[in-house]
Amino acid sequence: MAQKHLNNDHLVGQDDFYANVFKQFLACSKPQSCLPEYVSTHVDKLVHDSSLNHDTNAPLRVLSVGCGHGARDVHVLKAIHEQRPHIQFDYVGVDINSVLVQEAQQVFCSQHVRGYVSECQFVVAPIEDYLERLNPSSEHGTFDLILMLHCLYYIPHRKHVLAQCVDHLSPNGKLMILHQSPAGINNFQNLCNPLFEGRKCTRNLQFNSMQVEHLLNDLEVPYSMDIVNATLNVSNCFVNPHDTTMEQAYRKGLQLLSFMLERDMREESEEVKQQVLDLLSRVSVKKHHTGEYWLFHPQVFLVVSKKL
Ligand SMILES: C[S@@+](CC[C@H](N)C(=O)[O-])C[C@H]1O[C@@H](n2cnc3c(N)ncnc32)[C@H](O)[C@@H]1O
Repeated sequence: MAQKHLNNDHLVGQDDFYANVFKQFLACSKPQSCLPEYVSTHVDKLVHDSSLNHDTNAPLRVLSVGCGHGARDVHVLKAIHEQRPHIQFDYVGVDINSVLVQEAQQVFCSQHVRGYVSECQFVVAPIEDYLERLNPSSEHGTFDLILMLHCLYYIPHRKHVLAQCVDHLSPNGKLMILHQSPAGINNFQNLCNPLFEGRKCTRNLQFNSMQVEHLLNDLEVPYSMDIVNATLNVSNCFVNPHDTTMEQAYRKGLQLLSFMLERDMREESEEVKQQVLDLLSRVSVKKHHTGEYWLFHPQVFLVVSKKL
């Protein structure tokens, strides 16, 4: 069974630091509205009418795999609720990061969220362990919607977890995966990979939406796929470390690089940092009139159903 210590060699196992670098990444991501917009326009695909149980008005059961600070799950639930105001949710958020889970608990306490979330529960554990303990034949053992937003990279036994999720879908339930495409950050990671050769390396490199599709095909589960365009403002990464007026921006840039490359970039030599920046400048676009650097980072939505 997976234990948290499996992740300790990696950024994702360092609760505080990971929470900060992840939020830095979110702050630089544009547009922020990608996710709710996708959900609003695809709500029919995500929420099957017969899962609504009109007789009992039972809430829709939602599981979030790697819920993080919960804010993006709230965007998803709100977008569904806006399209289908009669829907209420029972939500379970599972994450190994206790710092982010604490924040998620606060986010879900807000009065606004309480308007459409009847019950919420948070579990600090690897998803593998949580699902292992949950019998899909038990009363609350299945979910109408499972969210897996940018989490699969970090999971050691991905195929197993995908199969577990599909097993825990209700008959019309859907698993929504949001994942990086081979372009954007994934391309940048692959370019940087040789710089870290022979050193402790992440297991996520090259794991993009194409590999997710291979796993889904191996599992023989039906799915649909959509691509959304997104960009990342990576300008802070290029701030001069010797410019004392730009200290905060420089620190944010290091956080963003750490998130993208899944290693603590504060510990890297100036030489390696410079090589990383040379590669980043090759894959990003510079707006000459503002001096900003932008990385195109298209992302992929996969909506998975139970095996027919
Ligand atoms: C990039 S963040 C995404 C968070 C959130 N889903 C969102 O989109 O805002 C990935 C999250 O997956 C969590 N995670 C990584 N491995 C996990 C595992 N085995 N089980 C549960 N959560 C995990 C991390 O702690 C982190 O919060």
